[in-house]
Formats: sequence, structure tokens, C-alpha cells
Amino acid sequence: MVDSLTYTPQITLEFEIGEKDFFVAGECASRVKKTLQQIGLKQDVIKRIAIIIYEAAMNVAIHATSGKVTVHVDPDGITITTQDIGAGIEDIDLAMKEGYSTATYEIREMGFGAGMGLSNIKQCSDNFYLESKVRVGTKLEAKVFFKDQKKAGEDT
Ligand SMILES: Nc1ncnc2c1ncn2[C@@H]1O[C@H](COP(=O)(O)OP(=O)(O)OP(=O)(O)O)[C@@H](O)[C@H]1O
Ligand SMILES: [Mg+2]
Repeated sequence: MVDSLTYTPQITLEFEIGEKDFFVAGECASRVKKTLQQIGLKQDVIKRIAIIIYEAAMNVAIHATSGKVTVHVDPDGITITTQDIGAGIEDIDLAMKEGYSTATYEIREMGFGAGMGLSNIKQCSDNFYLESKVRVGTKLEAKVFFKDQKKAGEDT
């Protein structure tokens, strides 16, 4: 019985995402998911982390020109960072609102653009930080702590 994943090694995974690179954006989440399953993290925590990575990476692919997703795992938790170059966000409070989206018709046709990504990320995170500069780019940082989480297969 542990209160944190004491034996988790430090792992850093990085993914470069290009404009409209939906495939790579999707791959980020599944690659990290596999790594976390190997570590033995509980499925519900993995699910939260996968949602954060998927939505954050898709936002880079859809709304930016290029960017990078970095996932850092240490014994205390996981930090997901996306840093992109692109249009940036003019009004962060507005962007955070459920249902707000600037996605084009073409993007909506592909099933994106519900305006739920950022609010989902925030909901799944223990710590959430978003910073943006118009016509420069956007940085997002989300953390999920392992505190009180137990590894899969362990009793309470
Ligand atoms: N990395 C980014 N660069 C520029 N604008 C962004 C970025 N991420 C989000 N935005 C802006 O914030 C809005 C809301 O983002 P959010 O992820 O909540 O919704 P969405 O991407 O439009 O739709 P969904 O995520 O539901 O498919 C976007 O429509 C876009 O205007
Ligand atoms: Mg989105």
C-alpha cells in the first residue's frame, strides 16, 4: 500500500505537432497511456491524463501552426505541457467557456470544435495554467498528482 508511486522512474516524453497533424496529436495520448499502464497506474487516473493530452495536443494541431507536447512523469505526478507557435488566444476567459470555439466549418465537419477541450482539461487536472500571446503562441500546463492514488491491483 503506497500513497504515491514511490518507484516510478522519471520519464519525459516529447512530441512535435505540425499544423492539422491530427494523427500525431492522437498518437501522443495513446503512447503515454501505454507507458502509464506499464508503470501500473490506476485506470481512472490514466483516463484523466489521456483526456488532457488528447485535448491539449488536438488544440495545437487545430488552432496553432506548430508546437510541442511534453509529458513529464515523476514520483509525485505527471505534468503535461504544450507550447505552440500560432495565432494565440485573445481572451482566455472566453476560450475557457464551455461551447466557445473558433473552429472552422471544415474542422467541425471532422467532429471537433464543440468548444469543450479546455474546460475538459481543467476538469481533469489538479493544477491548470494557460498563457497566451496573440500572434505569438500559447503555453498550457496541466498537472495530475499521484497523491492518494494507488497502483492497479493494490488493495485499499
Ligand atoms: N493552442 C491554441 N492556440 C490558439 N487558440 C487556441 C488554442 N487552444 C484553444 N484555443 C482557442 O480556444 C477555443 C476553445 O478551445 P477548446 O479546446 O475548448 O475548444 P475547441 O478546440 O474549439 O473544440 P473542441 O476542443 O471541443 O474540439 C478554441 O476554439 C480556440 O479559439
Ligand atoms: Mg479543443
